[in-house]
Amino acid sequence: MNKTVIITGASRGIGRAAAVKFAGEGFNIVINSVSNTDKLNETEKLCLNANPSTQVLAVKGDISDSAFVKHLIDTSVNRFGSIDVLINNAGISFVGVIQDTDDETWQKIINTNLSSVHYFTRSVIPYMLKSGKGSIINISSVWGNVGASCEAAYAASKGGINAYTKSAAKELAPSGISVNAIACGLVDTDMNKCFSKEDLDVVCEEIPAGRPADPKEIAETIYHISQCPAYLTGQIITIDGGWT
Ligand SMILES: NC(=O)c1ccc[n+]([C@@H]2O[C@H](COP(=O)([O-])OP(=O)(O)OC[C@H]3O[C@@H](n4cnc5c(N)ncnc54)[C@H](OP(=O)(O)O)[C@@H]3O)[C@@H](O)[C@H]2O)c1
Repeated sequence: MNKTVIITGASRGIGRAAAVKFAGEGFNIVINSVSNTDKLNETEKLCLNANPSTQVLAVKGDISDSAFVKHLIDTSVNRFGSIDVLINNAGISFVGVIQDTDDETWQKIINTNLSSVHYFTRSVIPYMLKSGKGSIINISSVWGNVGASCEAAYAASKGGINAYTKSAAKELAPSGISVNAIACGLVDTDMNKCFSKEDLDVVCEEIPAGRPADPKEIAETIYHISQCPAYLTGQIITIDGGWT
């Protein structure tokens, strides 16, 4: 029986690249996004191009809604029988000083980036316990490690993910379930479209590798971490071209 992976935020960027990678490796794929139906359908087609025998379930919905998350997990198990890998990838950013980060913006960033990780982990654990194994990979950021001026809410959400990852790893290691985070540096996706080319060039000058990561490089990393022994757990693995 094929293994199954759930990837949130897979209509674009890192999530899409991860979906295509796992499809090519023979996984059944569950993909999600919040609003972009056309792009989510495109990801489904790319997965089928990568592996015509793969099965793809696309579920649109908001990961900051715990009832939706439970529905997504239950629907995935009904369709594929089990969940082997969960990739908590979807996320949003906000660039602005702390004084301009109003309650609504703060709640949206924290709920989308951090609360969702708890909702997914909580809902998937019973199924992973049943199969006695599983890999949970949370997509974090170097800003969660070192903080970021003008991105305090985002950095706090990612720092929260790092602490949650280490906590969940401790709780779940006795059951053979690994929990790790991948802290990305600059990645070439829509998330950075808010910055000018000049701004991004300045950032690239600070990155020893001299460029942003290609989403496919992050997808490769995610896949390889998911295939490591469960003894690799509780780690925040930074992939940033030597930046931080
Ligand atoms: N790009 C970077 O430089 C960078 C660096 C460090 C970490 N990261 C992290 O990497 C992850 C992926 O980022 P990316 O750069 O690939 O982003 P992206 O290209 O902007 O894509 C974001 C994805 O998340 C989905 N999404 C947003 N809000 C959602 C919600 N409430 N419910 C469900 N899906 C939602 C989007 O769906 P729609 O298309 O429907 O909007 C889209 O599929 C994020 O956690 C981000 O923080 C990125």
